[in-house]
Amino acid sequence: MNALDDLELLESNKIAGVVIEPLIQGVNEMRPWPAGMLAELRTWCDENGVHLILDEVMTGFGRTGTMFACQQENVIPDFLCLAKGLTGGYLPLAATMTTGKIYDAFLGSADRAFYYGHSYTANPLGCAAALASLDIFERENTLANLPEKISHLAEKLAELRSEHSVVYETRQCGFIAGIELRRSDGEKFPAHERFGETICHAARQHGLLTRPILDTVVLMLPLSVSLNEIDHAMNSLSLALSE
Ligand SMILES: Cc1ncc(COP(=O)(O)O)c(C=O)c1O
Repeated sequence: MNALDDLELLESNKIAGVVIEPLIQGVNEMRPWPAGMLAELRTWCDENGVHLILDEVMTGFGRTGTMFACQQENVIPDFLCLAKGLTGGYLPLAATMTTGKIYDAFLGSADRAFYYGHSYTANPLGCAAALASLDIFERENTLANLPEKISHLAEKLAELRSEHSVVYETRQCGFIAGIELRRSDGEKFPAHERFGETICHAARQHGLLTRPILDTVVLMLPLSVSLNEIDHAMNSLSLALSE
């Protein structure tokens, strides 16, 4: 991959780590990485002695169809950043996971210990919510129920695209979707028109609460939604676009 080739030009011994969101870049208007890129990046990091840090704050906990996005390319990162879905989004809690090797490097006497903490580290209420949410994954077979919902969402996204010329592209990664809106001639709307925002406000009148990133409408439906609720969300968006 060209971007990785460019990295060769840098002095890899001066790079401590590479941080990416695996499979899909959220804030970059929901843009998926090319398939295979993550595994290739892992290999590059191994070959160059660089830590791979994966930000799975958005993609973690089933959002891409597997518990963690990195599992889809059989990648184990050196650091894994988790938050949002850890508590099912009910309470703020984040966790940074690392390997035994890195943990051990900071284990021991005061001069080795990694002195870092937050005021609310291991907040009991947050941790209780996380444990309850993880229980639900097991009890309700959340992951096993996702494939049907993911393909239903794919069908609905394709329908939306065929029905509205203003839908320039739909991007999907598991249960994450980005719907990019452009003028019918393929040109972007002028930024000051805030078209994506207008559509989201209109969709709200039809029962869908979501937000855009620029002119890409973001759909991150709760993992617990039913097929009917997916239809309702997509229908709300369709009505908003028609208006
Ligand atoms: C991919 C990603 N990383 C990090 C963050 C920030 O997470 P936190 O608010 O837990 O620091 C977000 C928040 O939206 C995110 O989507």
